[in-house]
Amino acid sequence: MKKSVEIGLLGAGVVGCGTYDVLTRKAEQIAEQVGVPVRVRRVLVRDLNKERETNIPAELLTTRAEDILEDPAIDVVVEVMGGEEPARTLMMAAIENGKHVVTANKEVIAKFGFELMRMADERGVDLFFEASVGGGIPIIRVLRRDLLANDITAIQAIINGTTNYILTEMERGQDYLDALRHAQRLGYAEADPRNDVQGVDAAYKLAILASLAFRAHVRPSDIRHAGIEDLQAKDFRYAHEMGYVIKLIAMARRVEEEIEVAVHPMMIPNGHHLASVKGVFNAVLIDGDQIDQMMLYGRGAGAQPTASAVLADLGAVARNIVHGNPERLGVPRNGRRVRQFEEMEARFYIRLQVADKPGVLARIAQVLGDESISIASVIQKETDETARVAELVIMTHAATEKRVAEALQIIRTLPITRAVNTFIRVAR
Ligand SMILES: NC(=O)c1ccc[n+]([C@@H]2O[C@H](COP(=O)([O-])OP(=O)(O)OC[C@H]3O[C@@H](n4cnc5c(N)ncnc54)[C@H](OP(=O)(O)O)[C@@H]3O)[C@@H](O)[C@H]2O)c1
Repeated sequence: MKKSVEIGLLGAGVVGCGTYDVLTRKAEQIAEQVGVPVRVRRVLVRDLNKERETNIPAELLTTRAEDILEDPAIDVVVEVMGGEEPARTLMMAAIENGKHVVTANKEVIAKFGFELMRMADERGVDLFFEASVGGGIPIIRVLRRDLLANDITAIQAIINGTTNYILTEMERGQDYLDALRHAQRLGYAEADPRNDVQGVDAAYKLAILASLAFRAHVRPSDIRHAGIEDLQAKDFRYAHEMGYVIKLIAMARRVEEEIEVAVHPMMIPNGHHLASVKGVFNAVLIDGDQIDQMMLYGRGAGAQPTASAVLADLGAVARNIVHGNPERLGVPRNGRRVRQFEEMEARFYIRLQVADKPGVLARIAQVLGDESISIASVIQKETDETARVAELVIMTHAATEKRVAEALQIIRTLPITRAVNTFIRVAR
């Protein structure tokens, strides 16, 4: 029987230091649960002299990946360096060398998870990635193991804390740029926030969730994503008047034998479970035939919550090593197709500025009618009497993305249209 489980950490940034810190601070508790001590043997970094959040002994640090990948004493490689390369290549090399892998890397798992899971399966090692989605929320194992008996029909999730923080501030009346700067000052948004605010990060995470939930191969490139940059404080006010809040929602739904996936801002009713998810918190709402509905809620990022998820994986791997109790979760497989985005249906909120004169409403209604889009309500919001411009808010009944895009294209070119400011999907 092994006397200890030895770890090689790839990276000692926010998550790496958080993981190292828990492993040392709670060493006794972890050893008790696993059966033997779990120890960090080497830590790969770029800069040996950098000051770090946690005091890692200098002799553990290395800049040579081989010191970890080729050390036969290392059982588990924990990849917390981030980015696509060299993280992907290093994880593949670790698996090839017979090491178990734990990673927090959503980008690599979203793009190459299937390849890596197959490799791990063939090599007889574990590949766990709990920290890749939802930080401290244990969503991955729930989908891979705990909901096994369910046919999952839908996932709706708030899985990007940066955007949820910004949207929560906008709900309180701030405009987008002020809310973004505020988030950057607090360390909730990066200096280059594009991956978060454009919905890319949420699309990576959704690709992982949808692949596991529907046992299908959903790639990030299958997911149409829209961000939050075009939203205005005014939209939040109007949403509020109509009983809605605006959230960046990652959604996946099974429609017959196909899957619909998308990430975009959505208006959701005040009473919806996700409406009360504020600030940097994340939540995932799952519909399944056995469970009906279930929600997981918690901190989606940060050193401690993410380290909690890394440690959950490490615990499972370590127990497997020590007790020979493998938790092989397998590779999701079935041939479900991802439905073309254009064929997806939604209700829409459309805010536009038009000439303030008779017949305008009828003309807009006609364009929508020609595309078989029926109007649920039209509200005239503000009128600029001098410029003779009126602001309209139109709520539609369900229509396909294709028809709405075509109608908006026509409306934009009408002589009576001054601007189509925003269109937001409305939750059903
Ligand atoms: N931060 C969070 O709250 C959070 C939450 C969930 C998931 N994640 C995921 O966790 C992963 C790590 O995120 P993080 O925030 O901890 O990143 P980070 O703070 O930027 O840390 C990255 C670490 O990796 C090392 N590194 C990067 N590239 C390297 C290379 N080519 N060679 C050697 N070392 C390299 C860096 O070394 P130096 O220190 O020497 O520069 C640093 O220690 C990412 O995949 C991220 O998406 C993060």
